[in-house]
Amino acid sequence: GGRQFFVGGNFKMNGNTKSLSAIAERLSSSDLDDTVEVVVAPPASYLALLSAKLSAKENVNVSAQNVHEAEKGAFTGEISCSMAQDCGARYAILGHSERRHVFGESNEQIGTKTKSVLAAGLVVIACIGEKAEDRKSGNTMNVCVEQLTAFKENINDWSKVVIAYEPVWAIGTGEVATPEIAQETHSQIRTWLSENVGSEVAASTRIIYGGSVNGKNCKDLSLQPDIDGFLVGGASLKPEFVDIINCTR
Ligand code: G3H
Repeated sequence: GGRQFFVGGNFKMNGNTKSLSAIAERLSSSDLDDTVEVVVAPPASYLALLSAKLSAKENVNVSAQNVHEAEKGAFTGEISCSMAQDCGARYAILGHSERRHVFGESNEQIGTKTKSVLAAGLVVIACIGEKAEDRKSGNTMNVCVEQLTAFKENINDWSKVVIAYEPVWAIGTGEVATPEIAQETHSQIRTWLSENVGSEVAASTRIIYGGSVNGKNCKDLSLQPDIDGFLVGGASLKPEFVDIINCTR
């Protein structure tokens, strides 16, 4: 109870000044449900642009898609938490499926990043999720628990954490999890939180779903008791992102 609905838009490596400005203008001029926490994650090069364009919109904030764990130094191509913050980010996505499976980030590294992000005062959007083969072999929760444990070991304040459950087989495939399948796993994640962190944290932590969410399937997913919002990829670049934000109205 009392968990504020959360809708994130992960633009991934898409957009440019023109198209991302148009998205910011659409969000600014739309009648958004102001009970919903909205976060957009543009490529790092557009964090400052988006945060400036959305500064008047109180419930819409900006997130980094990834950060490096160190404060500064010889890490060519990376950005630190404080740099993301300096460009207006208040959140950081960590452990996204593409970071894990395309760029080879380990649970250990994601854990270290979690510590840095929380120390910097950013909110962590902590991504977990199994591959198709894990689900087929009955290992969905084994994989999720391993990923959750790496986060947990580095979290001292759960009020600064949103868990994003994103089954890898549903990301960018059009194969959205059914509301029943998503609810089952969300509920198991909440039970894990209750047993391994505490009942208050389990009751108050948002668990959002990601993977082929769109304007049509969002409503049914949102009605499930343990689905507290979405992390939207492809559809966050389209006008229907506004419908997803407003789907619980
Ligand atoms: O972070 C977002 C997820 O990867 C979902 O992406 O909505 O394009 O499937 P998608």
